[in-house]
Amino acid sequence: MDLATINQTLTIPNEDKATPIKENEAAFIYNFLKERYLTKTLEAGFAYARSASHIIAATESQHIAMDPFQDHYQNLGLQNIEKLGFSDLLDFRRDFSHNVLPQLVKEERKFEFIFIDGDHKFDGILVDFYYSDLLLEHHGYVLLHDTWMRSTQLVMSFIESNRPDYQPIPTGLRNLALYQKVDKDQRNGMFFREFYTFKSVVAHNAIMWMSSGKESFLKKVAYKLKEKVK
Ligand SMILES: C[S@@+](CC[C@H](N)C(=O)[O-])C[C@H]1O[C@@H](n2cnc3c(N)ncnc32)[C@H](O)[C@@H]1O
Repeated sequence: MDLATINQTLTIPNEDKATPIKENEAAFIYNFLKERYLTKTLEAGFAYARSASHIIAATESQHIAMDPFQDHYQNLGLQNIEKLGFSDLLDFRRDFSHNVLPQLVKEERKFEFIFIDGDHKFDGILVDFYYSDLLLEHHGYVLLHDTWMRSTQLVMSFIESNRPDYQPIPTGLRNLALYQKVDKDQRNGMFFREFYTFKSVVAHNAIMWMSSGKESFLKKVAYKLKEKVK
């Protein structure tokens, strides 16, 4: 199935356009999987199924997705998958990733591509990465979304400073961070590299201030400037 058909078929409410990944990010995932013939896939964070639908369209294989809050989205993600005719290829778990991922580890399941786009708090992303590492095949890929968020940036910093067995792969997209597992984890129990960085602290606080409810003259000026920079 081509990208235009998928996007025309998906129902995503206008008032919630910010939740799913962007069309160009979905196209990146679709092409990436197709070009590399990757078929064993998993994702945390399903929502309206934009990422899931592109993953299944690219692989034409079974895909595991987990999300405890599908009812908050009127089950539209599952309905989208049904409209696309992908229901037989989706193994949907209505549960938190912190419950599903350890279970898959116990079952000794392995994956070639894992997309982390569920809980966006620092500890949630780190836990998803921790289990993804145990679930990835050698040379498998893990993809993080929302790299504009300070929480995601700190997890990226952790991977890049503490996990020499992971290599960053450029995506050409600002909001995606891709890593390939290229080695075994050979750290000893004492291994630790500082990964806290002050880079982006200012940007994070500026974003939080801009998105907070209170209106002010300064904020209006900041929004105008932001639009100009765009
Ligand atoms: C940004 S949305 C995902 C968008 C989706 N990847 C797409 O492209 O359509 C984040 C989703 O993660 C889910 N979520 C939040 N915490 C989670 C957790 N601990 N485990 C799994 N999913 C979680 C939310 O319910 C929400 O649907």
